Parts: sequence; structure tokens; C-alpha cells
Amino acid sequence: MTEADHGDGAITPKLDTEKSRAYGDFLRLDELLNIQHRFNGAHDELLFVVIHQTSELWFKVILHEARAALQDIRQDNLRGAFKMIARITRIQAQLSQAWDVLGTMTPNDYLAFRDELGDSSGFQSYQYRMFEFMLGDRQAAGFAPQQHHPHIAEEIRQILAAPSLYDEAVALLGRNGFAIDPSRLDRDWSKRYQRHPSVHAAWEKVYRENKRYWELYEFAEKLADLEDAFQSWRFRHMRTVQRIIGDKRGTGGSSGVSYLKRALDREFFPEILDIRSTL
Ligand code: HEM
Repeated sequence: MTEADHGDGAITPKLDTEKSRAYGDFLRLDELLNIQHRFNGAHDELLFVVIHQTSELWFKVILHEARAALQDIRQDNLRGAFKMIARITRIQAQLSQAWDVLGTMTPNDYLAFRDELGDSSGFQSYQYRMFEFMLGDRQAAGFAPQQHHPHIAEEIRQILAAPSLYDEAVALLGRNGFAIDPSRLDRDWSKRYQRHPSVHAAWEKVYRENKRYWELYEFAEKLADLEDAFQSWRFRHMRTVQRIIGDKRGTGGSSGVSYLKRALDREFFPEILDIRSTL
């Protein structure tokens, strides 16, 4: 049974019919709220599971937006892409705020269930990896999560076989008359992008003559926002992990905080940041 407001302030109950959809049914809350499994009943396990699950849900939205943004850029519809990129950046800001919540978990709270995690780690988050790959950080491309889930391996293969967001940005420069070296317009997309002076020169011109190239200039700044937001998430993750596990090794087998510090050096849109030193 639900309730209907008749506009006069009086709320009368309304029976669910086959056609009307109750809130909980529409959102499938019964399923959603019953997948927070608990291992040993430690108090903070629920927070730990929920923060990971909500992050993965947001990664899902991010990938949805990123796919659409890539398509818009390919079709020279930058206005459409701007909206999606701005949304991704806002979601990332929200994800970064989640570290404030997780930071309320003490080392003792975490140790109460840490052993239950075995060797599972955010390191194996395939959606996170897909996001990195889509933007242009393909450094971890050798990493193959979820080999036992062939559809995920296939999706990752397809992302790596196609140009990243940054590759598309470079191609866009080419379509706008900038002399981009052919090696940056057609390459083995699965490999890491390497800086090139022709791309540096093109972005530099865009910035020096920003009134003439306003859309490209705006685009580059949106990418800089995205990179900033991503690095803020990485930084807050690293600091939160440091606060909780110090310099212990991660459950995924890495060196832990020192690995996460090194990840901060990985870039998405290299020349867009480089040109700031030469302008
Ligand atoms: C108590 C909380 C957490 C701890 C102690 C922790 C610890 C770590 C450590 C040590 C690593 C390095 C890989 C390894 O050896 O495991 C890592 C990677 C990672 N974690 Fe967390 N983490 C926590 C929470 C989270 C949350 C809430 C997320 C959200 C999805 C997350 C996502 C990731 C991702 C995506 C990576 C891979 C980063 C990369 O390879 O650059 N972690 N985590």
C-alpha cells in the first residue's frame, strides 16, 4: 500500500495496482539490500562492503558516461562530451569524499575482519581498470583481472584495442588542422601513449591562441579537471590506506602504500599538463 497526496495537504493511502510500481520494486531494493554479506560479523565490515559496492556502482555510471563521451568526440560533438566529462568529474569528487567516511575506521576496526578478505583487493577492480584504460593510462594493461570471467576479459580487450579518450583528443587536434605526427594518429592502442613534440606544439598553440581555438581550449581544461579529480581520489585512497594499515603489504600482494604512491605518477593526458611549463 502507498499513499497519494490530493493537493489539499491530506494524504490518503493508495493501493498498489499491477500498473503502479512501488519505490522498492522499481529499485529492486530487496535484492540490493541483501547482498551486503558479512564474514565474521565484525561491526565495520558493513561499512567496508558498502563503500566498495557504492564505489563500483559509481564506476558503472562513469564508464557509461565515458563511452558516450568517446563517441561524441569521435563525431566532433564536443558540447555533448563536455557534459559527460563534467559529470564524471563530479562523481569522482563524490567518490573522493567517501574517504572521509572510511577514515573513521581505525586499524583495530579493520584488523577485526581483514583476514576474511584473503587476497581480494581493489587492485582487482576491473571497472576501475577499464576507466583508467578508457582515459588513457594503459600502464597496467598487462594486468588481467577476472580471467575466470571471459566476458570481462573480452570487454577489457575491446577497450584496449580502441583509442583512449586522450588518443581521441589527439585525433581531434589532427582533424582541426594541427600537424600531428602520424605515429600518434595510428598506433597499437593497447600500448602506453608516449609523448610527442607535435602534440605538445598543438596544445601549446591552442592555449596561446585560446580565443581562436576556444572549444579545444575548453576541452583541454575539462581533461585537466578530470585528471585532477582522478589524482585526488588516488591521493586520498593512499592516505586513508596509510592511516589504516601503515606500511604493511596489501591484500592484493603489492607493497601497499609505496605502490599506491607510485600510482600517483601515472598520467592520463601528458602534454596537456606539460605545456603549462612552456607557456
Ligand atoms: C580499509 C580500506 C582499504 C585498504 C586498506 C586498501 C588497501 C589497498 C592496497 C594496499 C592497495 C594496493 C594493492 C594491494 O596490494 O592490495 C589497494 C588498491 C586499490 N584499492 Fe584499496 N584499500 C581500501 C579501500 C578501498 C576502497 C573503498 C576502494 C574503492 C573501490 C578501493 C579501491 C582500490 C583500487 C581501485 C585499487 C587499485 C589501485 C591501483 O592499482 O592503482 N580501495 N588498496
